[in-house]
Amino acid sequence: MKKRIYGIFVTLCLLVLSLQVVVFAAETPEKPNVVILATGGTIAGAGVSSTTTVGYTAAVTAVDKLISNVPELAKVANVRGEQVFQIASESITMDNWLTLAKRVNQLLAQDNVDGIVITHGTDTLEETAYFLDLVVKSEKPVVLVGSMRPGTAMSADGPLNLYRAVILAGTKEAAGSGVMVMLNDTIHSGREVTKTITDRVDTFQAPIIGAIGVFTGDKPVFYRQSLRKNTVATEFDVTNLTSLPRVDIVYHYAGNAGTMIDAAVNAGAKGIVHAGTGNGSIGKAEYPAVENALKNGVVIVRSARVGSGIIARNGEANDDKYGFIASDNLNPQKARVLLMLALTKTSDVNEIQQMFWKY
Ligand code: DGL
Repeated sequence: MKKRIYGIFVTLCLLVLSLQVVVFAAETPEKPNVVILATGGTIAGAGVSSTTTVGYTAAVTAVDKLISNVPELAKVANVRGEQVFQIASESITMDNWLTLAKRVNQLLAQDNVDGIVITHGTDTLEETAYFLDLVVKSEKPVVLVGSMRPGTAMSADGPLNLYRAVILAGTKEAAGSGVMVMLNDTIHSGREVTKTITDRVDTFQAPIIGAIGVFTGDKPVFYRQSLRKNTVATEFDVTNLTSLPRVDIVYHYAGNAGTMIDAAVNAGAKGIVHAGTGNGSIGKAEYPAVENALKNGVVIVRSARVGSGIIARNGEANDDKYGFIASDNLNPQKARVLLMLALTKTSDVNEIQQMFWKY
């Protein structure tokens, strides 16, 4: 009999491991179950002294240490950590995105997971957040969090950011908000947020549109929701995706004659996001390269290098004539995320333009 019970126990353990099912062994029923997926960044960084806030090493502290450094987490949630990867986010890849998105969806499908926090470098955090906003297939809260100072620094912002991100991920009211970004007591939509300052804790902003909520003490307060379709309401599904179509961003500037457009086409880009001047303008000298790209079937989205505001269709370029897509208010790096996913569904420019108005 004992052997039989032991055999069943071992089988169950192997099943849990094989399905990568997360178990909250010592959970307290009244507290939410939150999984922290760690990817690296400054929030996992370390410097040589308490005054080192530049020149530190990102992505060196493991997820279990991030959690043990903030014992207060246990007061607000049952927390489990997973190290998905450990990188500085300027080096994140599309393979990383697919791995992360698939793990998020796998965990959120578990009834015993109430929300997810993703610790991430701030450099590309806005891109990962928007990608997940479009491919996560659950309304449960997903919160990306980072920091601008390493954990070893005086007044490090990571611990409190992480603590509040866990509270937010365990907050039922946050369900259905799309993927969120929480730093510096501010709750942003993954679609609208962007990094605006190279080195300050208040770097994440949503120009013109604004935040969706704030923290007052340990309490999240929501003031609005994004009207754009996200998560369960999108047509994008990463389940069977093993790669993403290549989309490059080319920056326009005085004297530019389209060299980088040619380079993107030669590199096999399926899509190009043009970071135009002003309202997404394309210089006359770029048009030979633009027309060559279009002839090669490359889909071109017009965004703008200025960082905020709507790109008006048929404003600074004849979108109808050339088949350009106007990016709405998405900056170049966000427009690239949507164009990559759009190209997994269609290369029809009219259909893709509708997607830029819907998501
Ligand atoms: N290497 C940068 C990154 O991982 C550090 C910036 C940060 O995380 O704040 O994004």
